[in-house]
Amino acid sequence: MSAQPLRLAVIVGSVREGRFAPVVARWFAEQAGAHSAFTIDVIDLADFPLPLELPPVPPAVEPDMPRPDEMADLTRRLREADAYVVLTPEYNRSFPASLKSAIDWHFTEWQAKPIGFVGYSGATGAVLAIEQLKQIFGELHAHTIRNYVSFPRYYLLFDEDGTLNEPEGPAGAAKVMLDELAWWATALTEARRERPYAEVG
Ligand SMILES: Cc1cc2nc3c(=O)[nH]c(=O)nc-3n(C[C@H](O)[C@H](O)[C@H](O)COP(=O)(O)O)c2cc1C
Repeated sequence: MSAQPLRLAVIVGSVREGRFAPVVARWFAEQAGAHSAFTIDVIDLADFPLPLELPPVPPAVEPDMPRPDEMADLTRRLREADAYVVLTPEYNRSFPASLKSAIDWHFTEWQAKPIGFVGYSGATGAVLAIEQLKQIFGELHAHTIRNYVSFPRYYLLFDEDGTLNEPEGPAGAAKVMLDELAWWATALTEARRERPYAEVG
């Protein structure tokens, strides 16, 4: 385990009015906060403008191209992270457009870093969204974590106060994912320190 706590960015992917996302974010931030490996930064995409219009030059070609001023804080926090957990619902068998915009506006920020997932939705528990995200993050040279947390029919699992009726299973799944994330984050943080990934990827 690295001497410095690893910086874990928890990305809240849903931005719609009336969203359930804050309940899942609160629960997951508690799980991650209790894990000794990490300090936590919850990045709520609803706090940032995420234009559908993408930069004229792909971030893979020009990583430091101008971005909208209001995006600077998002970019800085993504850059500072050693690991990410993406919280995603599922919309029509995929993940929210807000997440796609945040992903596509960045490139080196994701490179050679591990990413875990927490999904929640109607029937599927967002596993289809998670599978798609895994495919996309591979293109960005990120390492996605095999084990994830999924809440199918989340509305049956949380009570009106946002407390899980049966917390042991999800807490166990979160611990497994966070342990794997910590291992990869330690290894990749060390590797990036030894040789910047930009020299290879
Ligand atoms: C446009 C739309 C499409 C949806 N499609 C799916 C779907 O394909 N699979 C599923 O399990 N749930 C689906 N749902 C249910 C959402 O996952 C559920 O409403 C969840 O609360 C969305 O997360 P949010 O409240 O944080 O935005 C859909 C919801 C919306 C609004």
